[in-house]
Amino acid sequence: MSASTATALRDTVRIPTKRHLLMCPPTHFEVTYSINPWMDTDVVVDADLAMAQWSALRDCYRRLGHHVDTIQPVPGLPDMVFAANAGVVRAGRVLVANFTHAERRGEGPAYRRWFDDQGFGTVTTATEQNEGEGDVLSVGDIMLAGTGFRTSSAAHEELRRFFDVPVVTLDLVDPRFYHLDTALAVLDDRTVAYFPGAFSDSSVSVLNELFPDAILVDESDACGFGLNAMSDGYNVVVSNTPVAFHEQLRERGFNPIGVDTSELIKAGGSAKCATLELRP
Ligand code: ARG
Repeated sequence: MSASTATALRDTVRIPTKRHLLMCPPTHFEVTYSINPWMDTDVVVDADLAMAQWSALRDCYRRLGHHVDTIQPVPGLPDMVFAANAGVVRAGRVLVANFTHAERRGEGPAYRRWFDDQGFGTVTTATEQNEGEGDVLSVGDIMLAGTGFRTSSAAHEELRRFFDVPVVTLDLVDPRFYHLDTALAVLDDRTVAYFPGAFSDSSVSVLNELFPDAILVDESDACGFGLNAMSDGYNVVVSNTPVAFHEQLRERGFNPIGVDTSELIKAGGSAKCATLELRP
């Protein structure tokens, strides 16, 4: 990137927009099974700390002016705190998740009941394996969809039909980055950040073509869950450990807001995983 391009990007005026979010308190959160490389059932979760960190995340969103709804957590569904996986919501339509692992399958109907009660125009449960915004991220008028570990490529076709938008398939190849939202963050309608090592070579080419100005994040910050971030177009709520990424964000005119998510990280998630955006 030339020096003048870098200056132009830093000086870009970033406009935050108010978001409508859904979260689920970690009342029943613990690590009792292992379905991704971060989950070690021998590690103890501090339940009070998890609740305090989650509450701080919710309060941070509210301070930024976002509307946060919460759903009643269900006993026996410890990963229900990861609301991003509940489905994909856009333009009054909801495609409810169809989870990969038996341990999480009960979350689909629990979230579905909540969506049914909210008066959305159309609420449908995905027929294909689909883990919602964990793997499906809207960028402007298109959707980026991950596959390889959870959401299937057949689910991408279902998303295309259901939402009538272009869906770009991205292949995830590193099990540590098993959901797209652990490997790529959408910062605004044109800007993304990602860790190239999480994707196949051909998917890196696709990303490079679509987003030549993307922020490339290093492996250590990706492992610190830096990409599991929630941006409103200016403020980026993000795990407080990936410091180089925070600096990269500042250089590009974004405002990183660090949050401590040490307890959720024990289950392989951070800020974005705990947050579903109910897109208008
Ligand atoms: N333990 C959960 C799982 O493996 C973590 C989900 C994280 N959610 C996310 N959107 N990446 O399914």
